[in-house]
Amino acid sequence: MEIKKIHHVAYRCKDAKETVEFYRDVLDMDLVLAISEDQVPSTKDPDPYMHIFLDAGQGNVLAFFEIPNSPPMGRDENTPVWVQHIAFEVEDMDALLAARDKIEAAGLDVIGPTDHHIFKSIYFFDPNGHRLELVANVDQPGMLEKLHEVAPAMIDEWSVTKRAPRHAAFLHDGEFELEDTSI
Ligand SMILES: [Fe+2]
Repeated sequence: MEIKKIHHVAYRCKDAKETVEFYRDVLDMDLVLAISEDQVPSTKDPDPYMHIFLDAGQGNVLAFFEIPNSPPMGRDENTPVWVQHIAFEVEDMDALLAARDKIEAAGLDVIGPTDHHIFKSIYFFDPNGHRLELVANVDQPGMLEKLHEVAPAMIDEWSVTKRAPRHAAFLHDGEFELEDTSI
């Protein structure tokens, strides 16, 4: 099997129009298309829905459903608010800082930039309570390759200890040095 890319991901929204306007005005994401039915296609249940598809760049699509006949949407109360989120990439740090200013000017609270060593991030919430992240990559050459190399061992250790493995500590210890690959 070869997965080509994420075709779309879908979340629930409280109000389709409000959601379209938020992503358009705050994140400059266009409405690609809307699909709406009064019946659920698979079950034929009468349950009107509005399914919106937003352009997240380079063919990536972020979708939402408004389903007014269901109880108000909540969230998984057993999971901290920072865990489930949607992250979008911007061009560079200048773009990230400009985005922060724009989002704050729209009246939203923004956290960050937070330094993740291979990228820096800002965080905020959409009108539905979905946590959003904007990311600017700042990795140095070789960093991602080194992280990729240690990833399987990190998972193995984590599965036993449930404590953070130290394989990637070089990132925040400032110890990262390019290995000489010419020899
Ligand atoms: Fe993230």
